[in-house]
Amino acid sequence: MKNFIYIFSALLITSCMPNKKNSNEINIYSQRHYNVDEIQYKNFEKLTGIKVNVTKANADELIQRMKNEGDNSPADLFITVDVGKLWQGGDMGLFQKFDNESVFENIDSQLLDNNSYWVPVTYRSRVIVYSNERVKKEELSTYEDLSNEKWKGRLLVRSSSNAYNQALMSSLVENLGSENTSRWSEGVVANFARDPKGSDRDQVKAIAAGQGDIAIVNSYYIGLLLSSLKEEEIKAGKAVSVFFPNQGENQRGAHINISGLALTKNAPNRDNAIQLIKYLTSIQAQETYVKNSFEYSVNPDVSPDEIVQSWGEFKKDPVDLNSLGTNRNEAIRIFDKTGWK
Ligand code: FE2
Repeated sequence: MKNFIYIFSALLITSCMPNKKNSNEINIYSQRHYNVDEIQYKNFEKLTGIKVNVTKANADELIQRMKNEGDNSPADLFITVDVGKLWQGGDMGLFQKFDNESVFENIDSQLLDNNSYWVPVTYRSRVIVYSNERVKKEELSTYEDLSNEKWKGRLLVRSSSNAYNQALMSSLVENLGSENTSRWSEGVVANFARDPKGSDRDQVKAIAAGQGDIAIVNSYYIGLLLSSLKEEEIKAGKAVSVFFPNQGENQRGAHINISGLALTKNAPNRDNAIQLIKYLTSIQAQETYVKNSFEYSVNPDVSPDEIVQSWGEFKKDPVDLNSLGTNRNEAIRIFDKTGWK
């Protein structure tokens, strides 16, 4: 029934919208690196006949490319795994605002952009994972506590050039101020089990190999490890548990970031792009995300995957997500100053 309603509304949208070029395609510049996206685009193509062309690169390269291409850019949509980059693109004048309220219809209002430059399609939390062998859950509490001496030589995290870490540090700047965040970062660096290297997955593998006891990683990677076809990855996933920090009564909640889309300033296939966004936030597509990438749905009617549900519900830091972009330079300054490589 849901599918029928979607197909019907998709037809309705297509027939009512003036499609200036009658184009039958969409061009996406995407930073996302998950297999689920190909499934989503294929399903959308089957449903609508609109061909989805994807150009993949890292967010900075894609932003630079859109800037260089200017008004002639073939891109309709820009997709990233970090709201900071979406804020940046909006700030650089690369996007147009969404003027059609119906684009936001399926989305939890806490996750929306106050400036209407981007739309979230999934969200994720940057959590603490801990060794089931060497750490007790009761020893963990907040991000702030990661600077405590008790974690000396035990903490694993990737490098500061990574956008996930930059967003987390930006959230601390917003919540604690620059000075407190600097002090925190100093303490965290002093607790490193090794110089930052590798991906989020690699930090979990390092815990399994006994190289450290706790790590800062994005939540969905634990789901990806546990559902992997590789024995070594399943083993790594099983060696740790997920902890959502800052959940106490007077605490702000765990840091989240979104994966989201922005409509480029001159989107040549604008109507098709809007149609794709509505599809990606529909119940059907949101279920595809949660089952395949273990991210959280932006649609309040869609529950997380079973693996993710087993970690329990959590309170989200309600900070304005755009502050993860506006505080970015300050976050990078703190990383540099405190020797977080
Ligand atoms: Fe990722």
